[in-house]
Amino acid sequence: MPVIETRGLVKHYRNVQALKGVSVAVEAGEIYGLLGRNGAGKTTMVKILLGIAHRTAGEAFLLGRPVGDPAARARVGFLPEDHRFPDYHTAESALDFYASLSGMSRRDRRARIPEMIERVGLKEAARRKIRTYSKGMKQRLGLGQAMIHDPDVLFLDEPTDGVDPVGRKQIRDVLVDLKSRGKTIFLNSHLLSEVELVSDRVAILELGLLRREGDVPSMTTAKDVYELRFDGRIDPLLPEIQKRVRGLRRIDQGIEVDVDGRDALNGVIDFVRDRGIGLVGLTPKKQTLEDVFLQTIDSPPGAPTS
Ligand SMILES: Nc1ncnc2c1ncn2[C@@H]1O[C@H](COP(=O)(O)OP(=O)(O)OP(=O)(O)O)[C@@H](O)[C@H]1O
Ligand SMILES: [Mg+2]
Repeated sequence: MPVIETRGLVKHYRNVQALKGVSVAVEAGEIYGLLGRNGAGKTTMVKILLGIAHRTAGEAFLLGRPVGDPAARARVGFLPEDHRFPDYHTAESALDFYASLSGMSRRDRRARIPEMIERVGLKEAARRKIRTYSKGMKQRLGLGQAMIHDPDVLFLDEPTDGVDPVGRKQIRDVLVDLKSRGKTIFLNSHLLSEVELVSDRVAILELGLLRREGDVPSMTTAKDVYELRFDGRIDPLLPEIQKRVRGLRRIDQGIEVDVDGRDALNGVIDFVRDRGIGLVGLTPKKQTLEDVFLQTIDSPPGAPTS
């Protein structure tokens, strides 16, 4: 049973179709990254799953229950994209407030709050007023707030927004640790390199439609593009190789080829070997998630993407 599931989810605001039929299924223990441009519908998706916004059509389930179910909601933590804490609080008193809202006993809070503060790297500022915090510090507190009641599912809308590189690494470590403890994480982010580092699966949302979805390794492996390295001089053979491929580029110790399937790839390798040059390396070409993202949002909806 998926922990988070939507089927044909549709959301219309007055004159905006924010979601146009989105279906996702996130399994327990997964880190799922939702990517998309500003206005793509990412926050809308999260708000519906949390019961903050109402769907126009389609279905949405959280922990196997229809969205809005209070028992399921109690097992969920949420970091909103533009959260504001009352600034007369300190990190310590704010977390104490949220922990008591979620029904934690005073004893549990005493043990839990210092641990949370430590984990999000706010120890030095724990007793300072929030009004003196930087943006990144508030963001860290937001993450602490989302985790305070040890939820099974976390929705994080731009968790590293405004956070410096060291802090981003700390947050990534927190997410990996949560995952290792079986938690499920739904992450909205613009920071593609980061999503690439932590997510098991990613989806690309564009104008309310899910344009691509997949695990990070298979999405970032370019289809039919390979790097070949040889133990001999390849340059004299390039004109002949050119005839056997769609694309050819000289790289260190070899070539990068874009071929029409496996047979074409083997054709190139055989041709070179027949001339006494051995293959010493064959690697499928990697793309960054950013490359994939830009290609996906560049192509019109419904167009095949590789
Ligand atoms: N309360 C609202 N009333 C009217 N339109 C809204 C409302 N909330 C969102 N929208 C519209 O719905 C669309 C999706 O917005 P959403 O906030 O879900 O995007 P997003 O992917 O989270 O963007 P961002 O990356 O900027 O956070 C946008 O066109 C936005 O203008
Ligand atoms: Mg958003």
